[in-house]
Amino acid sequence: MKVISVPSTPFPGQKPGTSGLRKKVTVFRQARYLENFVQAIFDTLSGQQGKTLVLGGDGRYYNDVAIQTILRMAAAAGFGRVLVGRDGILSTPAASAVIRKWQAFGGIILSASHNPGGEDGDFGIKYNLANGGPANEGFTEAVYQRTREIRAYRTVEAPDIDLGRIGELRIGDLVVSVIDPVADYAELLESLFDFERIAGLLARPDFRMRFDAMHAVNGPYAHEILERRLGAPAGTVVNGTPLPDFGGGHPDPNPVYAAELVAALADSRSGLSFGAASDGDGDRNMIVGRAFVVSPSDSLAVIAANHALIPGYAGGLAGVARSMPTSCAVDRVARELGIPCYETPTGWKYFGSLLDAGKATICGEESSGTGSSHVREKDGLWAVLYWLNILAVRDTPADVIVRQHWQHFGRNVYSRHDYEGIETGPADRLMDGLRSRLPQLAGSLVKDMRIATADDFAYTDPVDGSRSERQGIRILLDDGSRVVFRLSGTGTEGATLRVYLERFVADPGCHEVPTQEALAPLIGLAENVAQIAALTGRKGPDVIS
Ligand code: G1P
Ligand code: ZN
Repeated sequence: MKVISVPSTPFPGQKPGTSGLRKKVTVFRQARYLENFVQAIFDTLSGQQGKTLVLGGDGRYYNDVAIQTILRMAAAAGFGRVLVGRDGILSTPAASAVIRKWQAFGGIILSASHNPGGEDGDFGIKYNLANGGPANEGFTEAVYQRTREIRAYRTVEAPDIDLGRIGELRIGDLVVSVIDPVADYAELLESLFDFERIAGLLARPDFRMRFDAMHAVNGPYAHEILERRLGAPAGTVVNGTPLPDFGGGHPDPNPVYAAELVAALADSRSGLSFGAASDGDGDRNMIVGRAFVVSPSDSLAVIAANHALIPGYAGGLAGVARSMPTSCAVDRVARELGIPCYETPTGWKYFGSLLDAGKATICGEESSGTGSSHVREKDGLWAVLYWLNILAVRDTPADVIVRQHWQHFGRNVYSRHDYEGIETGPADRLMDGLRSRLPQLAGSLVKDMRIATADDFAYTDPVDGSRSERQGIRILLDDGSRVVFRLSGTGTEGATLRVYLERFVADPGCHEVPTQEALAPLIGLAENVAQIAALTGRKGPDVIS
C-alpha cells in the first residue's frame, strides 16, 4: 500500500465549536478542506496503528463523498479496521454505541446535527474517543492548533468502495467492515427497556403514536425499533426516508420546525395520543402529549423521577447532570432522591467524564438532548422509548404525567429565546457589555426585581480538574428565577444569541399560566439589562422554544 503525501496549506477557522467543526457544504467542498481537518485529527491521535475506527454520518449532502475520503486517509494513517455503517450511515448515538461495543479506538461522525442540509446547507465532522463520547476541549483545541500549521495530508490511491452491502472490503492493508447501522444500537436499547410492555401499549386500540423522523437519520432506526421490533402499526413513523437535504426542512425537533407533529397532537380528530421526533443525526428528541409539548427540561426531570419503572435504571441512579442553562427541575428530583446533580457547560462533551466516572447516570440539556450512561452521546430514540416505557407502566397520558410531576415538585417555568443570524459585531458587543456590567448588576434592582448574583459561568470538571470559562452570563434573582445569555457555538453564519428564562412556580393553582406570560417580567428584565433590541435591531426572537 503506497501512502502519498499531498501538499496543503492551512485554512483559517477550522476551530471546532460546541460539537465538532461545522461549516457550509460549500466550505467543506473546497479542495483539501476536509482532508486538512481529518489529517489534523489523525496527527493529534497517537497509537492508532492497527486499531479500529468507527465511521458514519447522518446521511446529509456530502456524507458519501466525505466517507470515501476519510476511508482512504484512515488507511494511510495506519488504522487496521474501519467499521462503517452501510451507505455511510450511523446516527450519532448509534456511532457511540458501536464504538463502545466493539471497543474501538475512536470514531468520526459526519453530521451538522439539526442544521439544515443540502448543497447549500451545513456539514460537520467530529471525533469521538474510545469511551464513545465527543473529544474533550483539550483534544479539539489541539486539533485546531494542528490545522493552523498543516503542510500536507496523507492518503492512499484507491477507488471509492461500495458501501451498500454488509461485508468486508479492503483498501490496501485496511479492512473496511460495512456494518448494519441499526443492529448494535437496537440490541442495546432492547437491554434497557421493557419491550414487551411497550409492545403491549403500542398494540392497544386506544393508544396511537406518531414518530416524525424529519427525513433524517433516525428513519431506518425508528422503522426497525418501533414498527418491526415493537410492532407499532405501519405508518407510525412518518418522514422516515432519510434525504440528503432532509426534504428541504430544518431537522430540529422543536415546536417551530416540527409544527406539523405538534398540530396533529393538538387535533383530537387525529386520534393520536403520543408524538415524538428526533433531529438530523438522531441525538435530539421531542416528546409531545395530547395538545401538550413536553419541555426538554421537564422531560429530563420526569425521566429521572420515574427511573424505578425502567428495567435498565431500576437499580438506582448514581447522579444526574444538566447543562447550566437547562432548567433546575431535575435538581429538585435529585434532592428528593438524595443523589448529586451536576451543572456543566453547554455541550454533551462535558457529561462524558461524569458518566465515565460513574458519577452521573442520566444527563440532559434544554436543547432537546437527553441520554444516559448507555452511550456517551445524547440519544433521541432512547428518550422516546423511555417515555413509552413510563406510559406503558403508569397507564397515564404524557401531559398528565408532567402535570402530576409539577404538582409534586413545583413547576420550573422555562423558555429559550433565540435570535438567529445576527451580526457577530453587535452580538459580541452585547455579551462584552453584559460581562463588563456584571459587578454593578449584582445587588441591583431592575424593574422591581432584585438581582442576587450575576456572573459568567465557569466550570471545573470534578473528575479531571479541567477548567472551562466564559460559558454564559447568569443573572440570578433573589426568588430563584434566572436569565442566562450565551452565544451559540454550533451555527455557521453570523451569531445566534440564546436567552434562557426560568422561574419557579410552587403553587399548583398557577401552573397552567401560559409560559411566555409567566415569564413576561423576566423577558422585560433580559431586554433591560442586555439591550437586545437596541444592539441587534431585532424586535423579538426568531425561535421560542
Ligand atoms: C446547541 C445546544 C446545546 C447542544 C449543541 C449540540 O449548542 O444549545 O445544548 O449540546 O447544540 O447539539 P449551541 O448552538 O447553543 O452552542
Ligand atoms: Zn443532533
